[in-house]
Amino acid sequence: MKLVFATNNQHKLDEIKSILGDKFEVVSLREIGCLEDIPETGKTLEENALQKAQYVYDHFHVSCFADDTGLEVDALNGAPGVYSARYASLEHPDNIELGHDSEANMDRLLRELGNNNNRKARFRTVIALIEKKDVCPCGCTSIKQVHQFEGIVEGKIIREKRGGEGFGYDPIFQPEGYDKTFAELGTDIKNKISHRARATEKLAEYLKTFRL
Ligand code: IMP
Repeated sequence: MKLVFATNNQHKLDEIKSILGDKFEVVSLREIGCLEDIPETGKTLEENALQKAQYVYDHFHVSCFADDTGLEVDALNGAPGVYSARYASLEHPDNIELGHDSEANMDRLLRELGNNNNRKARFRTVIALIEKKDVCPCGCTSIKQVHQFEGIVEGKIIREKRGGEGFGYDPIFQPEGYDKTFAELGTDIKNKISHRARATEKLAEYLKTFRL
């Protein structure tokens, strides 16, 4: 059973494949010949995930899913949220090098929070699945069904970066129930409790019960 994951991020592909198992052949954008940058112009994680999946469905007519993740900090009214990847560059739109600069993103977040004692935050992942359903036995027409799955890990933003593993905001995010950051816990533990793992497990549960 073939399913396109709207990403070219090998780390995400491996993580998803290990959760979904052999029952599904998960392929990347590159593997279906989609080399363009898919627009992500939504104002929410839900809109962005759906926009990416819809793009693949419209251009390649296959069942597919896409994800979007954000770090939501309570004291910053949910920022950086959907803008997590480009949080630092939003302050300096002329500096394109800051585009996906994790260090700059973390520095801005720590600066915005300052000495605020409310450090509560969460990572939230949304996966949008577009399922292609043939309605005619010869396959001449098809309808689609859209589903969304959410995964959340609660935690807090610590005051200084700690740890060398992972990526993005991992050195400043400490998940609830642990005294180490994601960057200190390492990928084995992180992949068991992460927002993405939780959303993917929900996707896997759904896929087990339905035929694509
Ligand atoms: P994406 O939607 O998975 O590309 O995530 C958007 C941004 O959120 C990334 O560029 C990272 O800055 C941040 N992010 C997503 N997942 C994680 C994570 O597991 N750890 C730390 N940062 C993350």
